[in-house]
Amino acid sequence: MVYGDKTTRVVVIGTGFVGSSYAFSLINQNIADELVLIDLNKEKAEGDAMDLNHGLPFGSPMKIWAGDYADCKTADIVVITAGANQQPGETRLDLIEKNAKIFKIIVGSVMDSGFSGIFIVATNPVDILSYATWKYSGLPMERVIGSGTILDTARFRFLLSQYFDIDVRNIHGYILGEHGDTELPVWSQTRIGSELIDRYIERYKPEAKKADLDEIFVNVRDAAYHIIERKGATHYAIAMGLKRLTRAILRNEHSILTVSTYLKGEYDLEDLYIGVPAIVSMSGVEKVIEIDLNEEERQKLHHSAQVLKDAMRPVFH
Ligand code: LAC
Repeated sequence: MVYGDKTTRVVVIGTGFVGSSYAFSLINQNIADELVLIDLNKEKAEGDAMDLNHGLPFGSPMKIWAGDYADCKTADIVVITAGANQQPGETRLDLIEKNAKIFKIIVGSVMDSGFSGIFIVATNPVDILSYATWKYSGLPMERVIGSGTILDTARFRFLLSQYFDIDVRNIHGYILGEHGDTELPVWSQTRIGSELIDRYIERYKPEAKKADLDEIFVNVRDAAYHIIERKGATHYAIAMGLKRLTRAILRNEHSILTVSTYLKGEYDLEDLYIGVPAIVSMSGVEKVIEIDLNEEERQKLHHSAQVLKDAMRPVFH
């Protein structure tokens, strides 16, 4: 692993749908040397550890066990997926009250172990709980990273790749803002290959309609609701996004990912966590990337930020 010859350890707190899917995704990518599972339901964590260990002969060597908070002391990364998740009809912001209380306990227990690594936060509302983790842990902001709009950006790129019948790896576009109902697409900077999307449509797909593109964004923004209605939860794609984030850190990849990070004036915003493109490496968030936004996009981002600040106020002030 990148950390020299140091054994890399990832701890995942919460082995529900997302946490166990993340654990499964991690062991299939040979990213960490050790994986520790922590859950209130110790038996569940033990069962998951047994089940994952039995798959190792088909994969690469790794040490996996159901542990406790003391195992966080030497962890490089602690991923928090624990907490209540959205029920049909619930928004992510509806979860603030109950999950902020849970986080105060979890983050305190992790820090009591002597943890000095990087937090990755996945529980919703992820922007607010990332802020909470930063506040409760006292760690520098770069070492507390929320999954942010990493999944929304993936959904955006996937749906565009389907519409234009182009390899998703050649679709470059970002979703910014709250991981939630006020997120926004940066159409003005969306590219297919090296062509701005409008230019690409002009030259290669003149039949494309603005209404189709608007529908694509609505389907991105509302994807979780549609999946939860059908199967009760979302977990595979977010788990893969968390795995991608973990790899960028452990392999020091300097990857640009739309994570939830603390702003100190970037995009004329400050003192909140929100989804923006940032360079992610072994030191955590290295730098926020300020992509050029047109006036409409800038206003939408500021509206999203205001919604988050209003929602945070009762919890932190
Ligand atoms: C979703 C969850 C991770 O968007 O918020 O699927």
